[in-house]
Amino acid sequence: MLPILLLCFLLPSSHAADFCVADLMGSLTPSGYQCKVESAVTTDDFVFTGLGVVGNTSNIIKAAVTPAFAAQFPGVNGLGISAARLDLAAGGVIPLHTHPAASELLVVTKGIIVAGFISSANTVYYMTLHKGETMVFPQGLLHFQVNGGGTPAVAIVSFSSPSPGLQITSFALFANNLPSALVEKVTFLDDAEVKKLKKVLGGTG
Ligand SMILES: *[C@@H]1O[C@H](CO)[C@@H](O)[C@H](O)[C@H]1NC(C)=O
Repeated sequence: MLPILLLCFLLPSSHAADFCVADLMGSLTPSGYQCKVESAVTTDDFVFTGLGVVGNTSNIIKAAVTPAFAAQFPGVNGLGISAARLDLAAGGVIPLHTHPAASELLVVTKGIIVAGFISSANTVYYMTLHKGETMVFPQGLLHFQVNGGGTPAVAIVSFSSPSPGLQITSFALFANNLPSALVEKVTFLDDAEVKKLKKVLGGTG
């Protein structure tokens, strides 16, 4: 009898936490989301169906990013991984951007994509990629993807963080209220170009 009683006490605490499914009621912190209580975790937390859905490319960049980060895919929280789908219509571009928290692995699944990154030494590494071809973008570095053909292109990307972050350079410069005079100073661009880009991207000042 005693050994069975002992087992009952020991079993619940004898397994380590296998996962930390995001509790999306809480907020995202640098160390991720808090864990959902295990009794509330379901298979759905570990499944994301959005990467099979064509993104809406009717926008200024003629492209769409469908993230499967912890915020959309709670099961990846705490696991050091996530994914996304890129759709690039003909003429589409994912503008120069960085993921501060993750390296990225891109696999072209349809069409042709010109992809590249710029190192801290300002060396450019870029390549025209076809279906099945893969490129990696090291953590934090500026990179881009451009449709290299006349037909829609698709890529599946994976990240070395459940919350890679995303900062698009042109939006950081021209889609906010940083005064034009300062933007001109920090970029060496002329006033006309800065005002034009602010207008296109929704910036003020
Ligand atoms: C795609 O996005 C555009 C612009 O937001 C919108 O007008 C259009 O209805 C969307 N199309 C679909 C199929 O959701």
